[in-house]
Amino acid sequence: MNDESTKIVAIDGPAASGKSTVARQVAQELGIVFVSSGEMYRAFTWWVLENDVDPTDKNSVLELLKSTKFICGKSENKSTITIDGKLLTRAEMASEPVNQNVSVIAAIPEVRARLVAEQRAYAEKSGVVMEGRDIGSVVFPDTPLKFYIDASPEVRQQRRAAEGIEDSIANRDKIDSNRKASPLVIPEDAVVVDSSYMTAEEVVGEVLREIRART
Ligand code: CDP
Ligand code: CDP
Repeated sequence: MNDESTKIVAIDGPAASGKSTVARQVAQELGIVFVSSGEMYRAFTWWVLENDVDPTDKNSVLELLKSTKFICGKSENKSTITIDGKLLTRAEMASEPVNQNVSVIAAIPEVRARLVAEQRAYAEKSGVVMEGRDIGSVVFPDTPLKFYIDASPEVRQQRRAAEGIEDSIANRDKIDSNRKASPLVIPEDAVVVDSSYMTAEEVVGEVLREIRART
């Protein structure tokens, strides 16, 4: 497991806990690919809205899923997602309508099955640092490198507000933690980091120390 090219680092946690900031920097340090699984759920949600499909109408969402072609690639060691030929931008994926509807779409088991297959495919080609909600529990349950990044609800709300993004994170957290399919949980063997009073750099340092100690 000393070879960086085979490392699978799973980072989970609630909204605005700092997962993607930390995962991006850890991946950079290790020289492996950073994958935001949330972007995949966000990209498909954007596509649902773009097609005027009602996110709560499961049959119509599944019909669209069947006819949708995803290309999950990478650019400069960061995951990218192309849907029916369109490369999604960060702004599209982080828009307010997407924030409002993504947890409803992500609760549909068939949507998850399709995207989990894409997520696992990344690890067939190289080492990855992947962040999301079910990466340690469902996507890569066998990896020994699991982290759960937490922060208090107040701090998380402040972090999102400081970014100038409108986001009902409490509502998403509620749906993500209570859904039947792959809910947000703390994997039993995960290292839990409460980042409420830590800088992102301190969290990165702790994650890297733990990875080095374990491999
Ligand atoms: O960055 P933030 O934590 O706000 O959200 P994200 O990681 O981009 O994920 C957006 C939404 O996608 C989450 O609220 C979940 O509903 C869903 N998601 C999921 O269900 N499973 C994952 N592995 C990643 C995201
Ligand atoms: O991916 P997730 O939604 O969990 O969080 P993020 O988008 O990585 O981070 C939300 C904001 O919190 C960003 O502006 C970070 O710079 C900031 N932040 C952090 O990520 N970690 C800390 N320990 C402190 C602040």
